[in-house]
Amino acid sequence: MRISQSLYSSLLLMPLAIASGQETGTPRDQETGTYPPVPPATPPPETVIQTIINGIGDGFLGTQNFDHPLHRPEEVGLQYENVTFTSEDGVTSAAWFFPKKGSDKLIIANHPRWFNRGGIRGYTEEEARAPGSYWAVNFVPDYEILHKAGYNVLAYEYRNHGDSDSTYAHTLGLLESQDMVAALNYVHSREDTKKMKIGLFSKCVGANSNLHAYRLHPEAFEGVKAQVFAQPLTVRVRLSRVLELTGISLDYMPAVDDSLYNATNFRFEDYELVPSASLVQIPTFVYQVHDDFNTLPSDVQSVYDAMPVEDKSLYWISGTNRRWDAYSWFQEHPEQVVGWFDRLL
Ligand SMILES: *[C@@H]1O[C@H](CO)[C@@H](O)[C@H](O)[C@H]1NC(C)=O
Ligand SMILES: *[C@@H]1O[C@H](CO)[C@@H](O)[C@H](O)[C@H]1NC(C)=O
Repeated sequence: MRISQSLYSSLLLMPLAIASGQETGTPRDQETGTYPPVPPATPPPETVIQTIINGIGDGFLGTQNFDHPLHRPEEVGLQYENVTFTSEDGVTSAAWFFPKKGSDKLIIANHPRWFNRGGIRGYTEEEARAPGSYWAVNFVPDYEILHKAGYNVLAYEYRNHGDSDSTYAHTLGLLESQDMVAALNYVHSREDTKKMKIGLFSKCVGANSNLHAYRLHPEAFEGVKAQVFAQPLTVRVRLSRVLELTGISLDYMPAVDDSLYNATNFRFEDYELVPSASLVQIPTFVYQVHDDFNTLPSDVQSVYDAMPVEDKSLYWISGTNRRWDAYSWFQEHPEQVVGWFDRLL
């Protein structure tokens, strides 16, 4: 089985890309529109392996262009304010604040990597940010649902995404945790929100940043009564899947670690989520596409198992192996997440 040249170029552009079913010729399931898990590819030649591994690091540099929000609250007639806040290390994040009259409950929402507070635009299948997941997602309906359910909402963008500042590298939630802290400090500093009960709705790298923020700045979480994580992701597991699905031996993982370190100044061990998860004392609902071939179910399971809080719940989305399906799941099935916040806030 050969992986096409376009995959190699997309790997260089986007280290999180892997062979999708289409690239390896595996037929798409006609009923569900999804690709089955990809069988191991033939190993590429050594020079290509080196190029891919160097490209993995380059894909984390912070100099890439990110889209501004495509969808806006005006589309659904939601009242909002444009707000900004600045982290301890001087990075300014952009956000929308949706006030809800008479409510003392507030949800802080963030987004997955590649997305912004408005969602993500569509890509071609070959350019998919997470292979198999290339279609557009609009997050504005999420805010509308939460607002209708009685919540103030603060939807913010962490560094290197949307209208927020860019920095030297994307660090998969580590430095982005400072933007989560800045969002919490912002809520605590506003006269009209500072006494509110807070829920956190954090997705992918946003969930990673939520976990690291809790470890690094627990004092910022005052007033946080509940949190929801969509698809937290350990970079070591993610990049091991990139190797597996491109037919590269896992013996190259130390070289991948070096490449990541070269770009971001952090290593796999710094990025591990379990040490942060093992401190969680906030009731937490987690959901994940079980068969997402960009990762392994054991990753989210181990993050979930590590959380010592008794009030926690894990929901697996089934019937798909496409990562993005988790990002429209809430607007299609809001009951569990809204129910989680309603019970705890
Ligand atoms: C290290 O990172 C720099 C950019 O910061 C890049 O130009 C260089 O190719 C990288 N080296 C390796 C071996 O990945
Ligand atoms: C928010 O900012 C955008 C972009 O500058 C602008 O088009 C929009 O009118 C602003 N909305 C409000 C409510 O101020």
